[in-house]
Amino acid sequence: MAIAFESRVRRRRAIAIVALCFSVLAFALTTVGFFGAPAEAQNVRPPANAVENGIATEGGGVVGREVPNEELTDGAVPGGSRGINSDADLWRYVRGVEVPDFDATVSIPNEQAAILVQSQGDEWRSIRNGALSTYGLYGLAGMLGALVVFFVLRGRIKVDHGMSGQTIERFNGLERFGHWLLAVSFIILALSGLNILYGRYFLPDLIGAEAFASLSQAGKWAHNNVAWAFMLGLVMVFFMWVLHNIPSKIDLQWIAKGGGLFSKNVHPDSRKFNAGQKLIFWSTILLGASLSLSGIALLFPFETAMMGKTFGVLNVFGFGLQTNLTPLQEMQYQTIWHGIVGLAMITVIIAHIYIGSLGMEGAFDAMGSGQVDLNWAKEHHNLWVDEVQAAEKSSAKPSGSGAAATPAE
Ligand code: HEM
Repeated sequence: MAIAFESRVRRRRAIAIVALCFSVLAFALTTVGFFGAPAEAQNVRPPANAVENGIATEGGGVVGREVPNEELTDGAVPGGSRGINSDADLWRYVRGVEVPDFDATVSIPNEQAAILVQSQGDEWRSIRNGALSTYGLYGLAGMLGALVVFFVLRGRIKVDHGMSGQTIERFNGLERFGHWLLAVSFIILALSGLNILYGRYFLPDLIGAEAFASLSQAGKWAHNNVAWAFMLGLVMVFFMWVLHNIPSKIDLQWIAKGGGLFSKNVHPDSRKFNAGQKLIFWSTILLGASLSLSGIALLFPFETAMMGKTFGVLNVFGFGLQTNLTPLQEMQYQTIWHGIVGLAMITVIIAHIYIGSLGMEGAFDAMGSGQVDLNWAKEHHNLWVDEVQAAEKSSAKPSGSGAAATPAE
């Protein structure tokens, strides 16, 4: 009776957690979707008094150096240049290069439009479609390949002593909620992000151009809005688990024994999180925070100057990077950085998903029901089990009230 009641309560709690997860996700989507309504298109039309096909305007703004009206001919190009006599300073200016003693104003509201030719744009495109995409793919393929090899050689890591039939609470409802909020939002962000980088190379052929366009549009919307749920999950996970992830001496022993991952019956000591998990935790937090910051810079274009400032800090260590970036360069560096960090994080998380599901018997339960088998816990987190049981004893709580071992259903 008591077991049936407990199982009912657990099932209801699980349903409530899932419902809460979806509500927060839905809330994040709708609120941000509301606030993130597309801004009114910027008016970039020239004023009525602007002269077309030339640069001098009567009383209005001037792009470039003013040229005497009598010298302007029909079809004159900016700067009034003809033939090979082009106005080099003007062309430097429209390329966004600062030219001493060259002053010009832009007569349209969008000042960015003064940069008509941006040479760094070519570099940006060749990095994004070249090195970034290529090495990113190598990283992902390398990790998938390594996991396949690991699975073939080692198989699924089993509980060496077999399942005990007793369980111990590993993560409570709030911890699982934070984890799944982070995980589900990350998977949506990862898939929609990979589509932005790689989709166009194969998806139009696979599903048709129209379907690819709709998918990409939906993906972009999801990418922009789900990001907030990811950030919330990241903050929750950080505060809930940071104290358990401070590196300690036993991590070195765990690493020296390869975590016991490569051989049977080897179980190095571990508290709540072992060294491998601490690596996953800190990768998630640091890469996730950097991904969030660069993501915010991309969500609010031309509002931040984080890259120039970061380069300034790096220059203290002798990097010699350019710090006076134009707003457009800021955005370009942000997209490249966002891509590098995103790909690195996806690569790391693929390994985590493998070990948390297919790769290790009994691991998924920790995040599924929150209850793990006692033998699993003793093999992988022996010191943590000792701590939990000692705390249970000292608070003299009856078993079955949370962290104590209880018979499995
Ligand atoms: C389907 C996908 C996923 C599965 C099956 C999964 C599974 C798990 C499991 C079973 C644990 C607990 C391990 C234990 O008991 O010690 C865990 C912990 C954790 N998960 Fe996930 N997870 C997934 C996705 C993610 C994603 C996408 C992230 C981050 C973006 C993430 C971040 C973490 C972190 C930081 C921990 C604590 C450290 C660790 O155990 O490695 N998880 N996950």
